[in-house]
Amino acid sequence: MTFIFYQKYHFCQVPSRGQVNGRSNAAGAGQARGLRLEALPLSFLWFRAMMRSFNSTYSGLSTTVFETMSRLAREHQAVNLGQGFPDDPGAPDIRRKAADAVISGWNQYPPMMGIPELRQAISTHFAHHQGVNFDPDAEIMVTSGATEAIAGALFALIEPGDEVVLFEPMYDAYLPLVKRAGGIPKFVKLSPPDWRFTAESLMAAFSPRTKLALFNNPLNPSATICPPEDLAMLAHFCMAHDALAVCDEVWEHVVFDGLAHVPLCALPGMRERTVKISSAGKIFSLTGWKVGFVMAPTEIMRVLSKSHQFLTFTTPPNLQAAVAYGLMKEDAFFKGMRDDFQQARDYLANGLKGLGFSVLPSQGTYFLNVDLAPMGVHDDVAFCQKLVAEHGVAAIPVSAFYAEDPVRTIMRLCFAKKRETLDAALERLSRIKPA
Ligand SMILES: Cc1ncc(COP(=O)(O)O)c(C=O)c1O
Repeated sequence: MTFIFYQKYHFCQVPSRGQVNGRSNAAGAGQARGLRLEALPLSFLWFRAMMRSFNSTYSGLSTTVFETMSRLAREHQAVNLGQGFPDDPGAPDIRRKAADAVISGWNQYPPMMGIPELRQAISTHFAHHQGVNFDPDAEIMVTSGATEAIAGALFALIEPGDEVVLFEPMYDAYLPLVKRAGGIPKFVKLSPPDWRFTAESLMAAFSPRTKLALFNNPLNPSATICPPEDLAMLAHFCMAHDALAVCDEVWEHVVFDGLAHVPLCALPGMRERTVKISSAGKIFSLTGWKVGFVMAPTEIMRVLSKSHQFLTFTTPPNLQAAVAYGLMKEDAFFKGMRDDFQQARDYLANGLKGLGFSVLPSQGTYFLNVDLAPMGVHDDVAFCQKLVAEHGVAAIPVSAFYAEDPVRTIMRLCFAKKRETLDAALERLSRIKPA
């Protein structure tokens, strides 16, 4: 490896003999500046490479439990209920639209804010489904997935030293992005079984230095929807501290039992201080598409667009065209999607309960949680590692979604899978004695 490194470095940095000889004194100047790396001992170059420092937020990140579990799932040919995506290929007409748009549509850079048809469709869709109105020309932007929208919002809104309220368990991208933006995280811990915050926990997290609260609702991984009274309490805290709210609402359409998603921006006083983030990947169960949307008042959108400009600038136009078509589909399409996921949720939940597992309620998302405490399990990571290695079922330990003082007794399972996949998982889980 040292040899390869040396060769690469040597090739890139040292002027060729021809170049050196072509200019008077060039060889001498190169040597004088110490550019002749042949002269340096390999051990020195190796040491330099090892000592090089990178950005501490990212270089300090260890391998995530998601990567570890996926690797273990492959190694043990496990039934993978850890991965958060459906194994259904998605609506054929929406995919056909994308394919047609690749062949006959525009394949060059689309407008930075998103193609006009999609921005109009987003505006119409959210007015119809959630009663919120955003101007397609000034208050809506298309991003490359919700993740880009979150990163862009944090980079655009946070000044180094600003405090950011985060609710744990949280989506794994939040904390590194907040830190990279220079934000100081202030955590609100949510715990099973109800995963709710209290006035005391918000009081402890909010301060005069709070710039924004990053709020995920419906919440992954708890699979819960924030009750209306808690939403009102959060709005009150944001207004009282003149804080912004960045709302990750990617699961807004995947809600069950007739529950409706209420966006925080719909609450009195919140419209002008909220950034609403959505994901077509979740709305249409096409998670690989990475088409996201941001909705925000014009003044905030102006700065969000600046950060988007230098992160990705645009999103594939053909996927945007297909998403515009999909968002205008009739209500029955979205209800059908919810009903299908709800049936899958019930199938897995009932199967697990039949085996004696303690299943927590799932109000939305592709996930349900199993409480391991009644089984005497207090280390969810060790349990999930054993589960995949010895029983061939991959799950996600929920402690992975906490930065500090994690809840260690919950495992998350994805039910957005074919019946045969859920049956195979249940059959393997039946070999475990829960109680
Ligand atoms: C809460 C949450 N936010 C954001 C994302 C990422 O969305 P996208 O794939 O559109 O970037 C996910 C994906 O699972 C998620 O669960």
